[in-house]
Amino acid sequence: MTKGNNLHSRAVDLIPGGNSLLSKRREMFAPDQWPAYFENAKGIMVTDLDGNKYRDFSHFSVGTNTLGYGNKIVNEAVYSCIKKGNMSTLNAPEEVYLAERLVKMHPWASMAKFARSGGEVNSMAVRIARSYTGKSKIAFCGYHGWHDWYLSANIADKKNLDSQLMTGLSPVGVPKELANTAIPFQEGDLNKLEEILSKGDVAAIKMEVMRSKAPTKKYLSDIRNLANKYDALLIFDECTSGFRATFGGLHLKYGVNPDIAVLGKALGNGYAITTVLGTQAVMTASQSSFISSTFFTERIGYVAALATLDEMERLKSWETISQKGASFKKRIVSIGKKYKLALNVTGMDALVCYNFKKIDALAAKTFVSQEMLKEGFLAGNLFYPSIAHSEKDTEYFFNALEKVFKKLSKIIKNKEDISNHLEGSSCHATFKRLN
Ligand SMILES: Cc1ncc(COP(=O)(O)O)c(C=O)c1O
Repeated sequence: MTKGNNLHSRAVDLIPGGNSLLSKRREMFAPDQWPAYFENAKGIMVTDLDGNKYRDFSHFSVGTNTLGYGNKIVNEAVYSCIKKGNMSTLNAPEEVYLAERLVKMHPWASMAKFARSGGEVNSMAVRIARSYTGKSKIAFCGYHGWHDWYLSANIADKKNLDSQLMTGLSPVGVPKELANTAIPFQEGDLNKLEEILSKGDVAAIKMEVMRSKAPTKKYLSDIRNLANKYDALLIFDECTSGFRATFGGLHLKYGVNPDIAVLGKALGNGYAITTVLGTQAVMTASQSSFISSTFFTERIGYVAALATLDEMERLKSWETISQKGASFKKRIVSIGKKYKLALNVTGMDALVCYNFKKIDALAAKTFVSQEMLKEGFLAGNLFYPSIAHSEKDTEYFFNALEKVFKKLSKIIKNKEDISNHLEGSSCHATFKRLN
């Protein structure tokens, strides 16, 4: 029994689901082999509790570290903050410096509020929109976190959220009275959006600017116009997209301004800090609602974000990671073709998603994770490039992946069941209760 397996078996009895984030459950990769816990993480190298080292070519802590794990410059800023003190009765000045910095990056915005998770800032944005407009409903597209307002979409129809990012989410525990207050529309479906808006009482259109397919400027402008026409606010959730393809949000590239934008994930390069940015009118009106929390004021998040923004800007990290992701896409398509494995490759270049087509996709994904672990890689079906993924690392990765694709293609050619080649159970596709 490895130390990781041992700890995991204790975890499932102590922590519902075994941990606090679905995307980091070993069941999402290779349920019986994935190492589950790390001792160290530096650059792209992750060391597990048993001393095994892996290059991380998977979802890289779900996109929090575009500057690599344990980035020296960000860490030094954090160490000096710890030396000075990270908490006191008085406020951290860096809260103001960060607000100034973010507002300067987003000329359409005038004010910022901070929190610690993406779900929180999304909830905050919804609260602000409802308090500003006096209306209740939210028309949304994409994934926006675990809070009641979002899960309530599945009360009216338990499959409402299935076609967004995650399937199988249950609204159990969410008041039934929230039914029909959050109404989904599909990426690109302006007709459905207008249908929702025309029924009235919509406080905001809330959407990821991009998940799987790049939008057109016209699409985003049409949405902006619909928001204006129906007196709803436009909220862009750039928690994931914010620092991947651009510095501060895809909407800056498209030149379409929301009333509110939320940013998270990579903002502090792994340290917890998220933000709601908004126009003066909207953010000022939010003061009539109560939004306040002790750890919103903690200093490390602000300090880490300021250092991260400086470093991202200095390195133009969003350009580098987009180039790395674009070349990754080309290479994976090419080895897929070479071994006759049909792949569906989607997502922005700086967040690559690849799925197997025509075969048992879950078993194939598990097989890849299982075999890549043996080659010294953390790999799933997502790749979030960071500036720390060197060309050499990428060469090693594709050499290993070719070997694995070759094995997989042989299994398929021999008409064998991929599951028979798994050394444990198959990964989960979605949220499942574990214990
Ligand atoms: C677009 C988007 N919004 C919100 C969230 C929720 O963020 P968090 O997990 O930090 O609560 C995520 C997380 O994946 C996300 O991708």
